[in-house]
Amino acid sequence: MSNLKNILLKKRICKSVWFMRQAGRYLPEFRDIRSKNEDFINLCLNSKLSSDITLQPVKRFNLDSAIIFSDILLVPFALGQKISFIKDQGPKLSNFNLETFLDVNEDQFIKTLTPVYKAIELTRKNLNKDKSLICFIGAPWTLLVYMLNLKDFEGNLSLDKFRKVNSNIKIILKKLNKFLCIHIQSQVEAGADVVQVFDSWAGIIPKTYLKDLCFNTNSEIIKFCKSKNIPNICFPKGIKDKYKDFNKFVKPDGINIDYHVDPDWAKKNLKDVVIQGGANPRILLEKEEKMLEVATKYIQTFKDIPYVFNLGHGLLPETDPDKVDKLVKFYRDFNE
Ligand code: CP3
Repeated sequence: MSNLKNILLKKRICKSVWFMRQAGRYLPEFRDIRSKNEDFINLCLNSKLSSDITLQPVKRFNLDSAIIFSDILLVPFALGQKISFIKDQGPKLSNFNLETFLDVNEDQFIKTLTPVYKAIELTRKNLNKDKSLICFIGAPWTLLVYMLNLKDFEGNLSLDKFRKVNSNIKIILKKLNKFLCIHIQSQVEAGADVVQVFDSWAGIIPKTYLKDLCFNTNSEIIKFCKSKNIPNICFPKGIKDKYKDFNKFVKPDGINIDYHVDPDWAKKNLKDVVIQGGANPRILLEKEEKMLEVATKYIQTFKDIPYVFNLGHGLLPETDPDKVDKLVKFYRDFNE
């Protein structure tokens, strides 16, 4: 059984390291492929290239896990929205149409995403058996933020827009939950052995809605994973001390902490769960000494409990790959 899966199932306390966004723009070998493939969604749907990109960081740094090269926005795409990436502005989705969204059936959805499942099959064949292959989804709320364009320029929730769509949210969430579970199951059937649920925008949910839009929606997904014995990790980014209530309510196998969560606090307050991540990805932009000092804090704090070394968000595009290499080697040496 693969390393990360073992930890999540609490079968064995072993050491493990991988990074969110480990396959991406900071790697020259990724930028090379990307420069020849202008359309990002098409690149995600090219099974061979997606698999090659997935394996790039694993080969370069000998990480313990691969995360499939794909995107959380492929689900809204398969549910009828067009996606474009505007330079320095992030993704933009075509206007949401409830009728089109509700019209998409299971067969159409799976057909659109079959290249992702093929990429997972191909990657599993080429990945060492003791390494985990991680698949992922965007959590329902975070997908809604993009699908309904709920953020303003500064990254704050636009309350006006939120109020306008509020009456339709329940019906949208119901369909999203069903199709996200289909996407998880199809990825696992193709060979993924762990799923990570990214709720990157959980931190902007108004307090009174946190239970409905974050806890309940993540909980439904995790209940599904548990019913199918799929090891799972949640990442409710930005919810501060609510991490504790989230963990108690949702009960995922693993939880990724962000860089606003104090590691000592996390150790004390997040129980019956495998903790993952934590450090600010900006530490890789600092001098080596500073980077290793922060890494030491996390490794030390969690050394006697099951812990997966990772960061508090994805690797930044300006990261020097040599720094990633140094960080992985430091982590390995520390655990020897
Ligand atoms: O982690 C990995 O290496 C696997 C691949 C992966 C990508 N996106 C590839 C990608 C994963 C796990 C994601 C998740 C994702 N996508 C999230 C959740 C995690 C997070 O960062 O909060 C979100 C919110 C998205 C949506 C998205 N996709 C955004 C906001 C952007 C543009 C800006 C950015 O963050 O890179 C993307 C594009 C994207 N997804 C790129 C990559 C490598 C960059 C594409 C490029 O311009 O070359």
